[in-house]
Amino acid sequence: MKILSLVGARPQFIKLAVICRALRKHSKVQHIIVHSGQHYDINMSDIFFNTLDIPKADYDLGVGSDTHARQTSKIMERFEEVVMKEKPDVIIVYGDTNTTIAGALVGAKLKIPVAHIEAGLRQEPKDMPEEINRIVTDHLSSLLFAPSMLAVGNLKNEGINRGVYFPGDVMYDLFLLAKEKIMHEEDTNKTLNVGFDKFALFTLHRDFNTDIEERLISILKAVGMIAQEIKVIFPIHPRTRKCITNFKLEYLLDSIHCIEPIDYLTTIKLLNKCEFVITDSGGLQKEAYFAEKRAIVLMPDTGWRELTDCRWNILADIDGEKIFKGFKQITKETIIPPSGLYGDGDAGSKIAKILLGKNQKSWRN
Ligand code: UD1
Repeated sequence: MKILSLVGARPQFIKLAVICRALRKHSKVQHIIVHSGQHYDINMSDIFFNTLDIPKADYDLGVGSDTHARQTSKIMERFEEVVMKEKPDVIIVYGDTNTTIAGALVGAKLKIPVAHIEAGLRQEPKDMPEEINRIVTDHLSSLLFAPSMLAVGNLKNEGINRGVYFPGDVMYDLFLLAKEKIMHEEDTNKTLNVGFDKFALFTLHRDFNTDIEERLISILKAVGMIAQEIKVIFPIHPRTRKCITNFKLEYLLDSIHCIEPIDYLTTIKLLNKCEFVITDSGGLQKEAYFAEKRAIVLMPDTGWRELTDCRWNILADIDGEKIFKGFKQITKETIIPPSGLYGDGDAGSKIAKILLGKNQKSWRN
């Protein structure tokens, strides 16, 4: 069986790592990896392949950054050539990026079944690029691997019932592996040269937060206030760095400890050590829960509502008062996290088993 994975952005490399491990165990599978080139900086791409034991991509489409339409269409054009040459039995797409929607469109048009890993997430605002990518991808996919039961319900609400599975979240699999690995490694404070014990971990990269000056100012001011009370470590995404420079907001970073983007294992080390998380990353707000850390979520809504509904994570959007109150709440109250929301940590092998048990005629049965 020939399985082709298309990836291109940071969170997809993490998910791919789990699928690679799971497929490697099956000798009859040929797994081809295609990198769209959406993320290309060493810290945004190579470092993930190197540290997560992902084989070098068989194809690199080298699209780079561009407007949404140009980036998506470039991926489609170049990916179509690869698919026509390789003729895979199934194409796996991951998450919600422009690479995801491009791969789903190419597969659907060439009548090759598409498997979507992290299917069924939904959130407001409906016009955010990731939400558009998710909805289109889910409606084009033959196999939908939902990371949570909430995601299964979201698919049902849109009339998608066939081909839907709940194997759990592949990111939970990788988190468990990483936790095991870093237990044997040296102290995070030494590795990162972070000379303090108590800190919060802060990340920011969503276009609706970084590209709108008032939103960016509101968030940085609120996080700056928190940084007066506890150290805040901020690995800066290149998009965010550019926006801060363009809007001349460097002065708002004075009290925040900024570092370059970090690889997956370093992120997990910081997560395990930090007191709490402040983020607009879909992945990190959930990894915080895996690490039993609470998160202040800088979004108007989240695809991981099960974590905000139970008050483990706090949805604050850009409201300075809510962000600061969230910090006070997290540091004062103790609550028990719900368990088992994202499966048993074996999503990768469950997905592999389902893929291998299928033949083209029965993809949506
Ligand atoms: C993309 C995904 C988002 C995911 C995120 C993880 C879409 C629509 N969004 O957002 O779902 O959470 O990846 O990071 O696909 N840049 C660099 N170097 C790089 C990559 C990007 O400098 O290696 C800069 C460029 O200025 C680029 C900007 O970051 O224009 C945005 O990159 P892009 O891939 O378009 O979107 P992300 O914000 O990373």
